[in-house]
Amino acid sequence: MEAFFDKPTVADLLLWYASNKRDLPWRRTRDPYCIWLSEIMLQQTRVEAVKPYYARFLEVCPTVRELANLPEERLLKLWEGLGYYSRARNLQKAARVVVEQYGGEMPRAYGDLLALPGIGEYTAGAIASIAYNERVPAIDGNVLRVLARVSGSREEITKDDTKRRWRERLALSVPAQAGDFTQSLIELGATVCVPNGEAKCEICPLREVCVARREGSIDEIPVRSAKKPRRIEARTVLILQDGERTALCKRPPKGLLAGLYELPNRPGHLTAEELPSLIRSLGFEPLQIQRLEDAKHIFSHIEWHMIAYAVRISPEFDGWHDTSGMLLVQNDDLHQNYAIPSAFSAYVKYL
Ligand code: ADE
Repeated sequence: MEAFFDKPTVADLLLWYASNKRDLPWRRTRDPYCIWLSEIMLQQTRVEAVKPYYARFLEVCPTVRELANLPEERLLKLWEGLGYYSRARNLQKAARVVVEQYGGEMPRAYGDLLALPGIGEYTAGAIASIAYNERVPAIDGNVLRVLARVSGSREEITKDDTKRRWRERLALSVPAQAGDFTQSLIELGATVCVPNGEAKCEICPLREVCVARREGSIDEIPVRSAKKPRRIEARTVLILQDGERTALCKRPPKGLLAGLYELPNRPGHLTAEELPSLIRSLGFEPLQIQRLEDAKHIFSHIEWHMIAYAVRISPEFDGWHDTSGMLLVQNDDLHQNYAIPSAFSAYVKYL
């Protein structure tokens, strides 16, 4: 099998990285816990958005032990706005395994990291190479794009088979400075070999060896299979307030936004005339109903098209049905202690 990069190309990448890397908080540490945390946060979220979350998280949980012991509600509050909350839950699950099985020290070997909840091939490779210089590759979406272009490959990068073979080929190129090598490819994909017709080939350290550049096919590569279109769901969101308190519900423990708090909402776009009976069925007496602006939220597989109503409810009526799972929460308590998913961010200003 052919290595992805020959030695001179690897040397070019390392040189380029040494003088072009961004100064990022998780690049100032070799602590595997911090690197792990950063890699999980960076999986679906931009670098600039991650920075404040990363700092806050490490203040509250400076080591694996604090994370293992953090109450779930506080964990979700720390993650509020980052999305994909299963990442936070898995992080904590894995932290508990690290405490119980490894005495609170992160395991060093790629294979042991891979066995932890929420740590896949990419994350295990990133932690093992960046924290310990283990000579293993780490291939995320950015790196796949670089590899596809440099090799001029039109293979579909979303296929497991493509990823597996490229992993094997990249493994043959990882030098002793494995961490810098991993980060050089991530950095190149994030700042130079970028998508959407904006690749900056003129400043790329791989410009001389890049097949896609030679063939003029940068903007056609990588090839990815068409994604399934997202399912569109109409929803009606209710902001039920009695002047001091707001109604929240806890979502079911499985599925979309599992276990998070949300504003009460129902499928479909309900008219103002349909609301009073619904609101009474929740145990509240509506006093006044006001339509708010519409909003959209895009999840990975679903799009919510929301309409919303602010409903003033009578403060005497808090004898809601036990089965509704509804809470009435004081407004400042709500802001401080409850994680409301970003899907509702258009309406947070009313709370
Ligand atoms: N994206 C994923 N991992 C990263 C890292 N270590 N630095 C910058 N961006 C990243």
